[in-house]
Amino acid sequence: GRLVVLVSGSGTNLQALLDASADPSYGARVIAVGADREGIEGLARASRSGVPTFVEKVGDYATRADWDAAIAARIAAYEPDLVVSAGFMKILGPPTLDAFPVLNTHPALLPSFPGAHGVRDALAHGVKVTGCTVMLADAGVDTGPIVAQEAVSVLPDDDEKVLHERIKTVERRLLVEIVGRMAREGWTVSGRSVRIGNHTG
Ligand code: GRF
Repeated sequence: GRLVVLVSGSGTNLQALLDASADPSYGARVIAVGADREGIEGLARASRSGVPTFVEKVGDYATRADWDAAIAARIAAYEPDLVVSAGFMKILGPPTLDAFPVLNTHPALLPSFPGAHGVRDALAHGVKVTGCTVMLADAGVDTGPIVAQEAVSVLPDDDEKVLHERIKTVERRLLVEIVGRMAREGWTVSGRSVRIGNHTG
């Protein structure tokens, strides 16, 4: 399957997908990497792997709708089977969501702690278990149908950085597993239920 991966930061989730797709049997490969800003490590990771990149900044457009259309067009140019939003910090609008399936990752057990500070919010709440979620993006913030989740323990001396790194170790493995299975086996969505593979009968 053809993947377009969207990033806004360090791109370690992207790197995990780049590494996995080096194996021809993985079933998916990163065709292009898009970002909402310049100068991030995620773009450098793509370039080091010889993967084309594009940047579309909201501030370059008169309206958000113009950016929505512009980024959808950049993505469409690569004809992806699946878009993976891996640490991409913008909400994708209908031009993208209506055209492509978008997989998203979040460093908390949704529906708990949605939004840009899921790790910080979980820590502040005092949870003993948090985790990560892989879901299909919809028009909301972290509200789409959940594909997979995995729990991660919170330890007494955790701060946001330490806890987020522990979560990301799990998140990268989960994302690589799910993207590979979806690319090889296909998937169906009915309501809030996502089923990977051809479950007949
Ligand atoms: C990931 O934990 C993602 O879920 C969150 O930000 C982090 C991005 O990490 N939105 P990276 O850019 O993939 O290293």
